[in-house]
Amino acid sequence: MPATVILGGHWGDEGKGKVIDLLAANCSYNVRYSGGANAGHTVVNEHGSFALHQVPSGVFHPGVVPMLAAGVVVDPQALLEEIATLRAQGVSLDRLHVSERAHLVMPYHKALDTAMEARRGERRLGTTGKGIGPAYSDKAARDGLRVGDMLDRKRFAELVRQSVEAANRQLVALYGAEPVDAEHVLDQSEEWARQLGPYICDVERELRYGLSRGQMVLLEGAQGALLDIDAGSYPYVTSSSTGVAGACASAGIPVQSVGPVVAALHAYMTRVGEGPFPTEQENGIGEHLRVVGKEFGTTTGRARRCGWFDAAASRYIVDLNGVTSLAITKLDILDGLDPLKLCVGYEIDGKIIDYVPARPELLFRAEPVYEELPGWQGRTTPARTWEELPDGARAYVRRIEELMGVPVSIISVGPARDETIILRDPLSM
Ligand code: IMP
Repeated sequence: MPATVILGGHWGDEGKGKVIDLLAANCSYNVRYSGGANAGHTVVNEHGSFALHQVPSGVFHPGVVPMLAAGVVVDPQALLEEIATLRAQGVSLDRLHVSERAHLVMPYHKALDTAMEARRGERRLGTTGKGIGPAYSDKAARDGLRVGDMLDRKRFAELVRQSVEAANRQLVALYGAEPVDAEHVLDQSEEWARQLGPYICDVERELRYGLSRGQMVLLEGAQGALLDIDAGSYPYVTSSSTGVAGACASAGIPVQSVGPVVAALHAYMTRVGEGPFPTEQENGIGEHLRVVGKEFGTTTGRARRCGWFDAAASRYIVDLNGVTSLAITKLDILDGLDPLKLCVGYEIDGKIIDYVPARPELLFRAEPVYEELPGWQGRTTPARTWEELPDGARAYVRRIEELMGVPVSIISVGPARDETIILRDPLSM
């Protein structure tokens, strides 16, 4: 049984959480593979409405083992709070596994994130402030603390003390910021080690064993694939590998074990933070998408930037990740908008191209080349079959399918689990 990857095909917030909640039902493992507490997945199901940040979205299914793999940066304080909130909502976290190899996001990483953004001034990235960049920097510099370090409490305390001292030197001398309170961090880290200890294990080995026994693994992306550190509009990206290659590296499984790759794509586009966004609509259309689509960050509460569907950027993600089918989400948000526009390329300095240039400065001045389609009257939310969708909605989805070169498997017409049209089984494509 191959592993399935579910990734966000845009800049995040594509509704991956709903798709994963839907597809995790028959899986043995649901593995979060990138990012940290910067993610925000919203899941609405028969148990209630949940905002998940680090815990995988398939956690609601009793047969699923939720896991955080090596490539995740774990914020221990935030994770414990999320566990407590979910428990209070009646969700069992007893099966949660956290990789020994995953790195820790420490309080000084968050302080550094804020200080670095302040120093960037006008060139700020609009990070979530969750310490992601500094935590991955320490990992790459081989100065990071890993989740497994917590298993030896005495050694962990020493490592924490040394790391806080080093980070404080940086905070004070380089950024003129306040140092973090070393004693407080030490107390906290003792508590994290005590409380998280039971969840820590060799996740990657267990996954390979599970795959060898034919068990189904669902790899869950966080952050959109357009925010990938290599493929995205650097430096306006996150600090992890958000695509399929990142999933395999993080989960410690061979690339050949990945079968289906499902990209969740909004029926339009959103972006949070800075960076180029050629189809952004800073007008009534953008406002419609933001208000009707409730496009406000689950993690930061920030208003998301909104615009027309960018087929050139989406196709880039499809090709880059070997996407096998698409989950088109939030189609209902386009109800009543007429006409609709799809961006099929860019005009940059008088030249028309149909691909995403590597340099963000080119994308900043790109003029989108649009194709116009008629909108539709009536609501898509009540539809449960392809035939029940308005003609215009079907034509819009078909055109996206043609432009992407891969079939649509799922259409989401509302936040609830059942407000979904399944055209074909994405796990068998
Ligand atoms: P960081 O990941 O906090 O370092 O932020 C880097 C960029 O990624 C910023 O533009 C953030 O707004 C964006 N970003 C990070 N996580 C998410 C997410 O879950 N959804 C949308 N954007 C995100």
